Amino acid sequence: MNFASDNASGAAPDVMAAVVAANDGHAPSYGADAAMARATARIREIFEAPRARVHLVATGTAANALGLACLCPPWATVYCHATAHVNVDECGAPEFYSGGAKLTPLAGDHGRIDPGALAEALAGAEETGVHNVQRGALSLTNATEAGTVYDPDAVRALAAAAKGYGLPVQMDGARFANALVHLGCTPAEVTWKAGVDVLSLGGTKNGCLGVEAVVLFEPERSWEFELRRKRGGHLFSKHRFLSAQMEAYFADDLWLALAARANARAAALARGLAALPGAALVHPVEANAVFAVLPRAVHRAAMAAGARYYLWPASQALDGPGEEPLSARFVCSWSTEAAEVEALVATFVKTGAVSAG
Ligand SMILES: Cc1ncc(COP(=O)(O)O)c(C=O)c1O
Repeated sequence: MNFASDNASGAAPDVMAAVVAANDGHAPSYGADAAMARATARIREIFEAPRARVHLVATGTAANALGLACLCPPWATVYCHATAHVNVDECGAPEFYSGGAKLTPLAGDHGRIDPGALAEALAGAEETGVHNVQRGALSLTNATEAGTVYDPDAVRALAAAAKGYGLPVQMDGARFANALVHLGCTPAEVTWKAGVDVLSLGGTKNGCLGVEAVVLFEPERSWEFELRRKRGGHLFSKHRFLSAQMEAYFADDLWLALAARANARAAALARGLAALPGAALVHPVEANAVFAVLPRAVHRAAMAAGARYYLWPASQALDGPGEEPLSARFVCSWSTEAAEVEALVATFVKTGAVSAG
């Protein structure tokens, strides 16, 4: 009953096997390995983007921060959702790698940037002149930190607003596969065809050991990215182990199968929670995360019974007095079993504080 994070799950067997196989003999280092060429070709094929450049790093923070650094000068700002990982969970890495660019957090329901808030922020920058940061780039997270998804139309509208001011668009796709499975569109439709210039294409959360691809849909900024990655200490010498993961991840659409499983578990959990009096979903469940409120006593009993998940936000006190509802985040992964979901819902029922409808 571990719903703490998709980071808490292991790596998929096919990915592990590919890493073990890559251990054989010698291979060119620093990305010159044959598996990298094959992974790049596959990503170009999947995205219908023959000109795209692909670079691998080991963390999502590096992917986002290095990608944004290529898009946003130090005197400019990245527009993002207030809850975006780049804004609240990367310890200032985008600011650090960009040499001081600012982030402008924007409002929006369910983790999605409100188009009006973006338009207002972009228009407001006009009045500031030399004394304030300039408009820099737009960052969209898909799937969002609230477990929701931007569809191609939503991406296109926000990207068009940014591009109206000549700004590039980055997408944090740490959970891109989960978003794509929900949408059922092509990868191209929700990225470059909708105006995305640079994508952080996640692998780690969805069954890889530790790898993310940065996809630059146009080659212009590719060399700059490579220099920044090396200078930032994120160019792996034994790069073949990153490449092998990505090759296995995209082979036979494994990435989509893994994400489909995670999303299906989240949907089942959402159905289970929605049927419990005293429980309520906080956001629409579109990817692999479920946010719900439950009475404090229910959380206490479930955690005592071995359920693992985070109160979200974490500032809520599990041990406080009273029965007021506390919100929590439950994340499903490729390895979450249907029985785990059933056990979690049964645990909530068993606490007696909520009963099955
Ligand atoms: C939306 C999002 N982006 C990026 C990341 C990548 O973070 P990390 O640097 O921990 O791999 C995460 C991880 O939690 C995330 O949730």
